[in-house]
Amino acid sequence: ARDVGILAMEVYFPNNFVDQAELERFDGVSAGKYTIGLGQERMGFCTDREDIVSLCLTAVERLMRRTGTSYADIGRLDVGTETLIDKSKSVKTNLMRLFEESGNNDVEGVDNLNACYGGTAGLFNSLDWMESSAWDGRLALVVAGDIAVYASGNARCTGGAGAVAMLIGPHAPLVFDQGVRSSFMQHAYDFYKPDMASEYPTVDGQLSIRCYMEALDRCYAKYRQKFAAKIFKNTTTPVNLDCLDFMVFHSPFTKLVQKSLSRLILSDFLAHPEPDYTGKHAGLEKYRGVKLNTTFADKDLEKLLLKLSHDAFSSKTDASLMVARNVGNMYTASLYGGLASLISSHTVEELSKRRVGLFSYGSGVAASLFSAHFVPSDRLTQLVESFRNLRQRLDERSKTAPEEFDAILKSKESTHHSAPFTPAAPVEAVPRDAYYLESIDGMHRRQYLVK
Ligand code: ACO
Repeated sequence: ARDVGILAMEVYFPNNFVDQAELERFDGVSAGKYTIGLGQERMGFCTDREDIVSLCLTAVERLMRRTGTSYADIGRLDVGTETLIDKSKSVKTNLMRLFEESGNNDVEGVDNLNACYGGTAGLFNSLDWMESSAWDGRLALVVAGDIAVYASGNARCTGGAGAVAMLIGPHAPLVFDQGVRSSFMQHAYDFYKPDMASEYPTVDGQLSIRCYMEALDRCYAKYRQKFAAKIFKNTTTPVNLDCLDFMVFHSPFTKLVQKSLSRLILSDFLAHPEPDYTGKHAGLEKYRGVKLNTTFADKDLEKLLLKLSHDAFSSKTDASLMVARNVGNMYTASLYGGLASLISSHTVEELSKRRVGLFSYGSGVAASLFSAHFVPSDRLTQLVESFRNLRQRLDERSKTAPEEFDAILKSKESTHHSAPFTPAAPVEAVPRDAYYLESIDGMHRRQYLVK
């Protein structure tokens, strides 16, 4: 298939959020730590009425209904998640309930797992399927979803929850660039979930930030080389941040994303054969020849780079952080919520023929930097239109006091994986047409209803 990419997208986040300034007071940390220090405004969370399956059911069903796509037209469905409710049965097979009426059971793909990277692994699988001899002419669905919750302590404010469903097909309004994907994979214990009885990860926060930065540096260096070879088709035209009109990142918290964009300026500077020391490289003289992986802890450099990247951040990245600031880390869905935010904040004209870079990071470590470009068409207009009310949807959610949020997480800790189980949270709080968990029977089988 040609020009394979995203035809349409749906973002679903739960109806409840906690205000981060209120959470600062509740946690007894200094005012500004979560809001300014980490760059987070609000954090979305689920009650026990919603789980990973219901989030994904809602995202897929809304996408299919809105676009008028028949379930019979789907030949592949990939799911990315790290929210495990079963060590064998996939979320994908749960989603097959949506296909029952269509009679279509010929649907490839299962779940993809590695921390926040599973959605990207799923996306790559679907793109590869469509560009391969295995493709049967039908469309693909990619669903990335997670419920991110941390034990009480300094990581809890970086939670979030949500799911993104993407319809993948040929002649798309957002086409993925071929031959430029660049990955960085290595072994690290920065964030992992070894305790099967708990929803919470084991996390070394500072190490995870360092791993994220290193993965970004390494992916970007490779991406530049591949871009020169595949898109410029020479090695002399310089590849730098100017080649990417927008840059969207996996966002654990938005301050990290701002720092990440600024590192790309440093990377460009170090790769440039003859940088001038004005404009975006002003003040970098003493860093000429420095090794990227020795700079993670250099606070003076970090400050300087944030200043130098101010304009690039405003024009390329800031708009992509709307969902991340207001929902928090949706793990596998974070990057794609970023893409949706970017689209929702621009017009068709502003996006047309522009290229967006995407950096996906999953702890452990699996990371990729890849890109896509917007193609002007009626489908692009529809894609942009579909996100016109994204901001409004974020603002229409209900605020929950930190005390109540804390009590909900405590109660979820005590009922996690119990069976039989009937959720305590009222169904009234579930948004209209969203799926919710009705009950879990004695054999851990889950029943869902639609609001
Ligand atoms: N006003 C303004 N800024 C403040 C204030 C204040 N009152 N107080 C603190 N800050 C700043 C700090 O200076 C720091 O900023 P800096 O790093 O730019 O200097 C920032 O707020 C955070 O403060 P720290 O003390 O570094 O925070 P802490 O170590 O307690 O926790 C962390 C932060 C590590 C991110 C933690 O929330 C965590 O472990 N989260 C989960 C792991 C994570 O998200 N990792 C990222 C990649 S992996 C993934 O996606 C899961």
